[in-house]
Amino acid sequence: MKLLVIGGGNMGHTYALSIKSSMSEIDIAILEAYPPRVKQLREENLFDVYTEPEIGLRNVDIIMLAVKPQHSASLFANMKPHVTAEILVISIMAGVKMESISMALGTPKVARAMPNLPAQVGKGMTAYCTSSIINSDESALIKQILGSTGEAIPVDTENDIDASTGISGSGPAYVFYFMQSMMEAAEKLGFSTNEAKLLVTQTFDGAVSLFRKNDLSTMEWMNRVASKGGTTRAALDSFETNEVDKKIIEGAVSAYNRAVELGKE
Ligand SMILES: NC(=O)c1ccc[n+]([C@@H]2O[C@H](COP(=O)([O-])OP(=O)(O)OC[C@H]3O[C@@H](n4cnc5c(N)ncnc54)[C@H](OP(=O)(O)O)[C@@H]3O)[C@@H](O)[C@H]2O)c1
Repeated sequence: MKLLVIGGGNMGHTYALSIKSSMSEIDIAILEAYPPRVKQLREENLFDVYTEPEIGLRNVDIIMLAVKPQHSASLFANMKPHVTAEILVISIMAGVKMESISMALGTPKVARAMPNLPAQVGKGMTAYCTSSIINSDESALIKQILGSTGEAIPVDTENDIDASTGISGSGPAYVFYFMQSMMEAAEKLGFSTNEAKLLVTQTFDGAVSLFRKNDLSTMEWMNRVASKGGTTRAALDSFETNEVDKKIIEGAVSAYNRAVELGKE
């Protein structure tokens, strides 16, 4: 089975590597347009690297679209003469609707996914949906391909993809935001930058590992750390008074609204 990743940038390259390491039955090639990147990919010598769609698309079974959304229209026009209706198209391009892909390429079998940046370290979270024509074997294949970078969950509609953008797609930045505030607090309390980084990173890592360990809710874990009149309770009370939770929810909803808006452009 041959898979062509189109766009060998951050995400495309990440997927090519992850699929290669977990699905030996798939032969992966990359189509890339930016000459310095083509040179880098060829020097790396892990994949066949093409620059012309008509050559890269020969005998391809699956295409992964990983170029920036603003490049999609010209890419589709160049690809169309070389794409057949049997090809399975998986797009990770933000905001580009399945119907647009299907219409532009003349391919009914389309999946659209929203991955996130931790895919680069095998801890990605990807939500995806597929066109109704996709059969169960193809569906399993898509899940395996997208899951090669971490976790992948199917969702029912493209609106759910926009919703996942507000949570897991943009979410790593929310975590970095919280981390940055905690590092600033650590430095304010006298720790060096390196110490602050270690204190905060290990705390995030440890808290997530604990949370994964059993079925306790976040509230139950908070109550395990906080005791009445204690230090943690002072921090949590301050967050509550300042309605930090509501602000985080508002932020995530803003990301969702923006994803919906971008999808209409
Ligand atoms: N990064 C993320 O966290 C993330 C998360 C979710 C979704 N995505 C989606 O993933 C996609 C890729 O993002 P990225 O960060 O990996 O972008 P990127 O690093 O810019 O990679 C895209 C690569 O594709 C190349 N390219 C552009 N047009 C092409 C064409 N016609 N044929 C072949 N190659 C072409 C680009 O070359 P040029 O530099 O010359 O344009 C670039 O090297 C985007 O659609 C984005 O919305 C990214």
